[in-house]
Amino acid sequence: MKPISIIVAIADNLAIGKDNQLLWHIPADLKRFKALTTGHTIVMGKRTFYSLPLRPLPNRRSIVITDVPGEQIPGCDMAYSIEEAVALMDDDKENFIIGGGMVYRQFMPLADKLYLTFVHKDFDADTFYPAIDFKEWTEIQREDISDDGNLGFDYSYFTCERRK
Ligand SMILES: NC(=O)c1ccc[n+]([C@@H]2O[C@H](COP(=O)([O-])OP(=O)(O)OC[C@H]3O[C@@H](n4cnc5c(N)ncnc54)[C@H](OP(=O)(O)O)[C@@H]3O)[C@@H](O)[C@H]2O)c1
Repeated sequence: MKPISIIVAIADNLAIGKDNQLLWHIPADLKRFKALTTGHTIVMGKRTFYSLPLRPLPNRRSIVITDVPGEQIPGCDMAYSIEEAVALMDDDKENFIIGGGMVYRQFMPLADKLYLTFVHKDFDADTFYPAIDFKEWTEIQREDISDDGNLGFDYSYFTCERRK
């Protein structure tokens, strides 16, 4: 099995996005995302690719998933199904699923590790993360971060591994 990790920031009500954008700006979380994913393969749906401020994200190999036959995006490897995305992944290095809702939903059964940022507030959204059954996961790291006065909410980092 190839190592598949999901990285996502989720609100209390499971909201993750609206109008093809994120719902918050958490500079420390973006730094953590960069530190974890740099040098790795990142896998995303086409909507998430086009939501990125810098495309493709530098110093990472991007796999973009689309249903449009033969579509190519410069600088990216293309996959036309979940199975094709898995076939393109690295064998011996963590592959990071970076969104969005449609792609997270399909990779949840395949992932062996979750890097969750839980944002402790409800948000109005059009894209949601699927409910997580924590009986299937073991928490291996947790860090609670208090609002620095600018965000309007606290948040927590959770790292979980799938129970064997
Ligand atoms: N909070 C977070 O951590 C986070 C992270 C990432 C994204 N987001 C948010 O999530 C939202 C985007 O999510 P989304 O659910 O709308 O879109 P998405 O998952 O990013 O992309 C959906 C697209 O991916 C392609 N696709 C997905 N599954 C496929 C399959 N099995 N086979 C072939 N193609 C497939 C299709 O592209 P085609 O239409 O080209 O066929 C589909 O329209 C945005 O608001 C974004 O900001 C949040």
